Amino acid sequence: MPSSNNNASTNTVWHNATVTRDRREKLNGHKGAVIWFTGLSGSGKSTIAHSVEEKLHQKLVRTYVFDGDNVRHGLCSDLGFSIEDRTENIRRIAEMCKLFIDTGVIALTAFISPFKKDRAFVKELLGNDYIEIHCDCSVETCEQRDVKGLYKKAREGKINDFTGISSPYEIPETPDLVLNTDIMNLDGCVAETISLLEKKGIVK
Ligand code: ADX
Repeated sequence: MPSSNNNASTNTVWHNATVTRDRREKLNGHKGAVIWFTGLSGSGKSTIAHSVEEKLHQKLVRTYVFDGDNVRHGLCSDLGFSIEDRTENIRRIAEMCKLFIDTGVIALTAFISPFKKDRAFVKELLGNDYIEIHCDCSVETCEQRDVKGLYKKAREGKINDFTGISSPYEIPETPDLVLNTDIMNLDGCVAETISLLEKKGIVK
Protein backbone atom coordinates (compact mmCIF):
# COMPACT_ATOMS: atom_id res chain seq x y z
CA MET A 1 0.00 0.00 0.00
CA PRO A 2 1.60 3.31 -0.99
CA SER A 3 2.38 5.45 2.04
CA SER A 4 0.62 8.45 0.44
CA ASN A 5 -2.69 6.80 1.36
CA ASN A 6 -1.93 7.44 5.01
CA ASN A 7 -1.67 10.95 6.27
CA ALA A 8 1.95 10.74 7.38
CA SER A 9 2.71 14.42 6.77
CA THR A 10 2.29 15.70 10.28
CA ASN A 11 3.78 18.96 11.60
CA THR A 12 3.38 20.76 8.31
CA VAL A 13 1.91 24.26 8.01
CA TRP A 14 0.10 25.62 4.94
CA HIS A 15 1.78 28.70 3.42
CA ASN A 16 -0.49 31.16 1.62
CA ALA A 17 0.82 32.68 -1.62
CA THR A 18 0.39 36.40 -2.31
CA VAL A 19 0.10 35.65 -6.04
CA THR A 20 -3.33 34.03 -6.03
CA ARG A 21 -5.17 31.89 -8.55
CA ASP A 22 -7.38 34.85 -9.32
CA ARG A 23 -4.37 37.02 -10.20
CA ARG A 24 -2.87 34.27 -12.34
CA GLU A 25 -6.15 33.77 -14.20
CA LYS A 26 -6.35 37.50 -14.89
CA LEU A 27 -2.80 37.39 -16.26
CA ASN A 28 -3.62 34.36 -18.42
CA GLY A 29 -6.92 35.75 -19.68
CA HIS A 30 -8.82 32.53 -18.98
CA LYS A 31 -9.82 30.29 -16.08
CA GLY A 32 -8.07 27.24 -14.74
CA ALA A 33 -9.91 23.91 -15.04
CA VAL A 34 -9.49 20.20 -15.60
CA ILE A 35 -10.98 18.53 -18.64
CA TRP A 36 -11.14 14.93 -17.51
CA PHE A 37 -11.49 12.48 -20.42
CA THR A 38 -12.53 9.01 -19.31
CA GLY A 39 -13.09 5.90 -21.42
CA LEU A 40 -11.64 2.59 -22.54
CA SER A 41 -8.09 2.21 -23.81
CA GLY A 42 -8.22 3.16 -27.48
CA SER A 43 -11.41 5.23 -27.14
CA GLY A 44 -9.64 8.39 -28.28
CA LYS A 45 -8.97 10.19 -24.97
CA SER A 46 -5.34 11.13 -25.66
CA THR A 47 -5.88 11.98 -29.31
CA ILE A 48 -8.78 14.30 -28.48
CA ALA A 49 -6.99 15.83 -25.46
CA HIS A 50 -3.92 16.67 -27.59
CA SER A 51 -6.02 18.08 -30.44
CA VAL A 52 -8.03 20.24 -28.04
CA GLU A 53 -4.74 21.40 -26.50
CA GLU A 54 -3.42 22.33 -29.95
CA LYS A 55 -6.53 24.43 -30.66
CA LEU A 56 -6.41 26.12 -27.25
CA HIS A 57 -2.69 26.81 -27.53
CA GLN A 58 -3.30 28.57 -30.84
CA LYS A 59 -5.81 30.78 -28.96
CA LEU A 60 -3.02 31.62 -26.44
CA VAL A 61 -4.57 29.48 -23.70
CA ARG A 62 -2.17 27.87 -21.22
CA THR A 63 -2.66 24.10 -21.19
CA TYR A 64 -1.08 20.80 -20.26
CA VAL A 65 -2.05 17.22 -21.16
CA PHE A 66 -1.62 14.43 -18.62
CA ASP A 67 -1.70 11.10 -20.38
CA GLY A 68 -2.13 7.73 -18.65
CA ASP A 69 0.73 5.95 -20.38
CA ASN A 70 3.12 8.91 -19.93
CA VAL A 71 2.36 9.49 -16.25
CA ARG A 72 2.88 5.78 -15.63
CA HIS A 73 6.45 6.20 -16.93
CA GLY A 74 7.27 8.59 -14.08
CA LEU A 75 5.08 9.84 -11.25
CA CYS A 76 3.07 6.59 -11.16
CA SER A 77 5.64 4.08 -12.41
CA ASP A 78 5.33 2.17 -9.12
CA LEU A 79 1.64 1.45 -9.78
CA GLY A 80 0.01 -1.43 -11.66
CA PHE A 81 -3.58 -2.06 -12.66
CA SER A 82 -5.16 -3.58 -9.55
CA ILE A 83 -8.18 -1.70 -8.19
CA GLU A 84 -6.03 -0.24 -5.37
CA ASP A 85 -3.27 0.90 -7.71
CA ARG A 86 -5.71 2.51 -10.13
CA THR A 87 -7.28 4.37 -7.20
CA GLU A 88 -3.87 5.64 -6.12
CA ASN A 89 -3.03 6.56 -9.71
CA ILE A 90 -6.17 8.69 -10.00
CA ARG A 91 -5.66 10.22 -6.53
CA ARG A 92 -2.15 11.41 -7.44
CA ILE A 93 -3.30 12.83 -10.78
CA ALA A 94 -6.23 14.58 -9.11
CA GLU A 95 -3.95 16.22 -6.54
CA MET A 96 -1.57 17.25 -9.31
CA CYS A 97 -4.47 18.71 -11.30
CA LYS A 98 -5.51 20.68 -8.23
CA LEU A 99 -2.10 22.36 -8.24
CA PHE A 100 -2.33 23.01 -11.96
CA ILE A 101 -5.76 24.64 -11.57
CA ASP A 102 -4.21 26.93 -8.98
CA THR A 103 -1.67 28.02 -11.60
CA GLY A 104 -4.59 29.07 -13.82
CA VAL A 105 -3.79 26.42 -16.42
CA ILE A 106 -6.28 24.18 -18.22
CA ALA A 107 -5.21 20.59 -17.59
CA LEU A 108 -6.51 17.94 -19.96
CA THR A 109 -6.30 14.40 -18.64
CA ALA A 110 -6.51 11.10 -20.49
CA PHE A 111 -6.89 8.30 -17.95
CA ILE A 112 -9.20 5.31 -18.28
CA SER A 113 -10.36 6.10 -14.72
CA PRO A 114 -12.78 3.16 -14.89
CA PHE A 115 -14.23 3.32 -11.38
CA LYS A 116 -17.10 5.56 -10.28
CA LYS A 117 -15.72 5.99 -6.79
CA ASP A 118 -12.38 7.29 -8.11
CA ARG A 119 -14.04 9.78 -10.45
CA ALA A 120 -16.33 10.84 -7.58
CA PHE A 121 -13.19 11.48 -5.50
CA VAL A 122 -11.78 13.75 -8.21
CA LYS A 123 -15.07 15.61 -8.49
CA GLU A 124 -15.21 16.06 -4.74
CA LEU A 125 -11.63 17.37 -4.68
CA LEU A 126 -11.91 19.73 -7.64
CA GLY A 127 -15.58 20.81 -7.47
CA ASN A 128 -16.76 22.95 -10.39
CA ASP A 129 -13.27 22.98 -11.86
CA TYR A 130 -13.78 19.33 -12.83
CA ILE A 131 -15.30 18.80 -16.26
CA GLU A 132 -15.94 15.19 -17.11
CA ILE A 133 -16.03 14.01 -20.72
CA HIS A 134 -16.87 10.40 -21.51
CA CYS A 135 -15.23 9.05 -24.67
CA ASP A 136 -17.91 6.49 -25.32
CA CYS A 137 -16.67 3.75 -27.61
CA SER A 138 -17.64 0.07 -27.59
CA VAL A 139 -15.10 -2.56 -26.55
CA GLU A 140 -15.63 -4.13 -29.97
CA THR A 141 -14.46 -0.99 -31.79
CA CYS A 142 -11.53 -0.38 -29.42
CA GLU A 143 -10.52 -4.00 -29.84
CA GLN A 144 -10.81 -3.77 -33.61
CA ARG A 145 -8.58 -0.67 -33.66
CA ASP A 146 -6.18 -2.11 -31.07
CA VAL A 147 -3.61 0.60 -31.81
CA LYS A 148 -1.21 -0.64 -29.11
CA GLY A 149 -1.89 -4.35 -29.61
CA LEU A 150 -2.94 -4.65 -25.95
CA TYR A 151 -6.44 -6.07 -26.50
CA LYS A 152 -4.87 -8.98 -28.42
CA LYS A 153 -2.45 -9.58 -25.54
CA ALA A 154 -5.29 -9.36 -23.02
CA ARG A 155 -7.35 -11.92 -24.99
CA GLU A 156 -4.32 -14.21 -25.04
CA GLY A 157 -4.13 -13.90 -21.26
CA LYS A 158 -0.79 -12.07 -21.43
CA ILE A 159 -2.17 -8.99 -19.60
CA ASN A 160 -4.25 -9.34 -16.44
CA ASP A 161 -7.03 -7.00 -15.29
CA PHE A 162 -7.37 -5.40 -18.69
CA THR A 163 -10.17 -2.83 -18.77
CA GLY A 164 -13.11 -3.95 -20.90
CA ILE A 165 -11.84 -7.54 -21.05
CA SER A 166 -10.99 -8.75 -17.56
CA SER A 167 -11.56 -5.61 -15.48
CA PRO A 168 -14.74 -3.47 -15.54
CA TYR A 169 -15.32 0.01 -16.93
CA GLU A 170 -18.12 1.72 -15.01
CA ILE A 171 -19.98 4.08 -17.34
CA PRO A 172 -20.21 7.70 -16.10
CA GLU A 173 -23.77 8.57 -15.07
CA THR A 174 -23.62 12.37 -15.22
CA PRO A 175 -20.71 13.45 -17.42
CA ASP A 176 -20.60 17.05 -18.66
CA LEU A 177 -20.28 15.72 -22.19
CA VAL A 178 -20.42 12.38 -24.01
CA LEU A 179 -18.39 12.01 -27.18
CA ASN A 180 -19.53 9.01 -29.15
CA THR A 181 -16.08 8.16 -30.49
CA ASP A 182 -17.41 5.00 -32.15
CA ILE A 183 -18.80 7.17 -34.93
CA MET A 184 -17.77 10.81 -34.33
CA ASN A 185 -14.70 12.16 -36.09
CA LEU A 186 -11.84 13.95 -34.34
CA ASP A 187 -12.76 17.46 -35.54
CA GLY A 188 -16.31 17.03 -34.21
CA CYS A 189 -15.05 15.86 -30.80
CA VAL A 190 -12.64 18.80 -30.56
CA ALA A 191 -15.31 21.32 -31.58
CA GLU A 192 -17.79 19.99 -28.99
CA THR A 193 -15.16 20.12 -26.24
CA ILE A 194 -14.12 23.70 -27.04
CA SER A 195 -17.74 24.79 -27.28
CA LEU A 196 -18.36 23.32 -23.80
CA LEU A 197 -15.41 25.32 -22.42
CA GLU A 198 -16.82 28.49 -23.96
CA LYS A 199 -20.30 27.77 -22.61
CA LYS A 200 -18.87 27.31 -19.13
CA GLY A 201 -16.98 30.61 -19.43
CA ILE A 202 -13.58 28.96 -19.01
CA VAL A 203 -12.24 30.36 -22.28
CA LYS A 204 -13.62 33.19 -24.41
S1 ADX B 1 -6.28 3.84 -15.04
O1 ADX B 1 -7.25 2.73 -15.04
O2 ADX B 1 -5.42 3.83 -13.85
O3 ADX B 1 -6.96 5.15 -15.23
P1 ADX B 1 -4.39 4.62 -17.04
O4 ADX B 1 -5.19 5.53 -17.90
O5 ADX B 1 -3.44 5.24 -16.05
O6 ADX B 1 -5.37 3.57 -16.32
O7 ADX B 1 -3.50 3.67 -17.96
C1 ADX B 1 -4.11 3.01 -19.03
C2 ADX B 1 -3.10 2.66 -20.14
O8 ADX B 1 -2.18 1.70 -19.64
C3 ADX B 1 -3.82 2.01 -21.31
O9 ADX B 1 -4.15 2.93 -22.31
C4 ADX B 1 -2.84 0.97 -21.79
O10 ADX B 1 -1.97 1.54 -22.76
C5 ADX B 1 -2.00 0.64 -20.58
N1 ADX B 1 -2.36 -0.61 -19.88
C6 ADX B 1 -1.45 -1.56 -19.53
N2 ADX B 1 -2.05 -2.56 -18.83
C7 ADX B 1 -3.37 -2.23 -18.72
C8 ADX B 1 -4.50 -2.85 -18.11
N3 ADX B 1 -4.39 -4.00 -17.43
N4 ADX B 1 -5.71 -2.24 -18.21
C9 ADX B 1 -5.83 -1.10 -18.86
N5 ADX B 1 -4.80 -0.45 -19.47
C10 ADX B 1 -3.57 -1.00 -19.40
